[in-house]
Amino acid sequence: MKFNMQKFIEDCQAALEQPEPEKVVKQLVQDAIADPEALRAAFEARGKPKTLRDAAIYRSETLSILDVTTPPGMVSPAHDHQMWAVIGVYDGAEPNEFFVGDDRGVERKSGKLLETGDVAVLGDKTIHAISNPLDRKSYAIHVYGGDIVERPGRSMWNPHTQVRENYNMEQLTQYSKDMRDIPADKHWQ
Ligand SMILES: [Fe+2]
Repeated sequence: MKFNMQKFIEDCQAALEQPEPEKVVKQLVQDAIADPEALRAAFEARGKPKTLRDAAIYRSETLSILDVTTPPGMVSPAHDHQMWAVIGVYDGAEPNEFFVGDDRGVERKSGKLLETGDVAVLGDKTIHAISNPLDRKSYAIHVYGGDIVERPGRSMWNPHTQVRENYNMEQLTQYSKDMRDIPADKHWQ
């Protein structure tokens, strides 16, 4: 069935009634990215987001859905969400690095390369970083079990000092730009 944004939002809302909503949302995202052209058309109809904040297709206290476009070479700082997340790549690649962290830094524990058609579910305490290793833009849909744009209590790790800071979306965007000038082996240490 062709992707329908309103139906997708309603299905995600209905999933919140289930004991493990992220598992239901994982299947919804899997189905959505199975037809990447329809998904792309639905997103493009909204106009291209300029900031992470603009990328929110839907936001409520309990659910948010983002159209995430990552520019070539982008690397994000390590950060948490404090809510479950489902990431589905519909065109490109989004390698995820996973960490344990405290106030003084993060330590990388594992990684998972997400490519077109792949979906990952992140727990509410997960600390991750994403990047785009390709020489073109990558596209993913991100669904969160809360309002990812305005969630108190989140953390990010400063790529210059490695210390934990309170999450700030604009500062995170700046850090992502800074990370282009930091050698890859120094990104998270
Ligand atoms: Fe994230």
